[in-house]
Amino acid sequence: MSDNYLRFVNTPFGKTAAQYLGLPAPVKLKRWKRGDQPFVEGNVLVGAAAGGKAVSHLGQTLAASPARVFHASNIATLTDSAKVGNKAAPLALDTEFEERFSALMFDATGLKDTNDLRAIYDFFHATIKKLELHGRVLVIAQDPSRCRAPAKAAAHQALEGFVRSVAKEVGNKGATANLVLLAAGGEKALDSSVRFFLSPRSAFVSGQVAKVGKTAEVIPTDPAKPLAGKVALVTGASRGIGASIAQTLTRDGATVIGLDMPSAMEELQSVTDALGGKALACDIADDNAPGQIADFIRQHFDGVDLVIHNAGITRDKTLGKMPEHFWDKAIAVNLTAEEHIDEELIGQELLKENGRIVCISSISGIAGNFGQTNYSAAKSGVIGYVEAMAKQVKNGVTINAVAPGFIETRMTMDLPVRVREAGRRMNSLSQGGLPVDVAETIAWYCHPGSNGVNGNVVRVCGQSLIGK
Ligand code: NAI
Repeated sequence: MSDNYLRFVNTPFGKTAAQYLGLPAPVKLKRWKRGDQPFVEGNVLVGAAAGGKAVSHLGQTLAASPARVFHASNIATLTDSAKVGNKAAPLALDTEFEERFSALMFDATGLKDTNDLRAIYDFFHATIKKLELHGRVLVIAQDPSRCRAPAKAAAHQALEGFVRSVAKEVGNKGATANLVLLAAGGEKALDSSVRFFLSPRSAFVSGQVAKVGKTAEVIPTDPAKPLAGKVALVTGASRGIGASIAQTLTRDGATVIGLDMPSAMEELQSVTDALGGKALACDIADDNAPGQIADFIRQHFDGVDLVIHNAGITRDKTLGKMPEHFWDKAIAVNLTAEEHIDEELIGQELLKENGRIVCISSISGIAGNFGQTNYSAAKSGVIGYVEAMAKQVKNGVTINAVAPGFIETRMTMDLPVRVREAGRRMNSLSQGGLPVDVAETIAWYCHPGSNGVNGNVVRVCGQSLIGK
């Protein structure tokens, strides 16, 4: 679906007209283009508060990119920035400097109390205006819920408000700002998440908080085909977000089993044929669906590595007017089916070691939505399910959710024009996301190096004004 306004304001005349009329002027986002594209290019500046544990690991990740790396110098609160490694050049932030930055990264894991927050100001005040179009801000902190000292918890919690506000200030550049909460000892597990948040793959992910936990091992992977040898089940794969997930996981090396309603077989077959995958006709809300899926997997493979519960439906009506079959169907497809499928695959030991389960929630499940009590309940239930399951999964398996905001698909095309236009503009990037934005976030969860990323709900919404 095309956003004509976005195209218009990106013409010279449109830009001037939007400025004159005080209308939003969204920047066309830069997305991932080719397999050998570096995750970050240009100038990257790294800063660290005293005692930062992540900064040297950030240096190692950046060393694998062609970016020119600088570290903040000449400011008392930022002396530990030099720990990013000797390949980084010092940049005196207390003087005038010419450089502009594709990314600004800050290791705040060393913050001990709220006085230490001054380091964040010192670093970003001097540099934020130098962030390029499509730039990235990434802050690494500790999980405040795991800080015993109240002053330390306060300092780390403060970063959430800080990052969400920065995201709002840089959105008009098509830039993003995100926060990673790192568990003690989890530094080695940071790599796949840093690469994702710095790269064009996270173009529509902004103002988000992701948790990275400690992992037993770091699994080496081919950066061009990190999912080589993996088998992925993608439900609702015949179109929209599901088709894009199937394409993105295949790009990363996985073999995809696409599943969709028997009525969507022609569309599904054309998606899976183009990807060298397999097509499975199945209504996931049928009682026998979990068994049917398990049989299909067993027939063609020795198990499945990635399970992506993408299929979803809306059945909108205000609560008093909602017929019971609208309620039942929305809960069955969007929520209950996922539980039953996982139960069957785990029970039959078909979900392999280091497997990944990804569920699709929605902004509606976080903020609620008029006329969507059924859908919002189901999508909120998805979050509860993921958070509870994350504590139970074993054998290196992780489970996470994405919560898309307004994504340009057939589902949103059916919205009334005013609602559609509001959905597109009411976020920090002033535009709708594309199916690939959701797919890229799922690919990050599925990456073998993301084994410390568990129990997250990351919104793919351009920092929608709706919800928290
Ligand atoms: P879509 O309507 O374009 O595609 C959904 C797919 O699921 C279709 O191919 C459909 O045939 C399949 N499906 C529906 N019921 C099924 C069943 N019982 N068994 C098997 N397949 C079934 O939807 P879209 O926009 O691609 O959404 C994908 C997911 O993202 C859904 O879970 C949706 O709720 C969620 N989402 C989408 C947003 C958006 O802005 N498009 C926003 C938030 C969440």
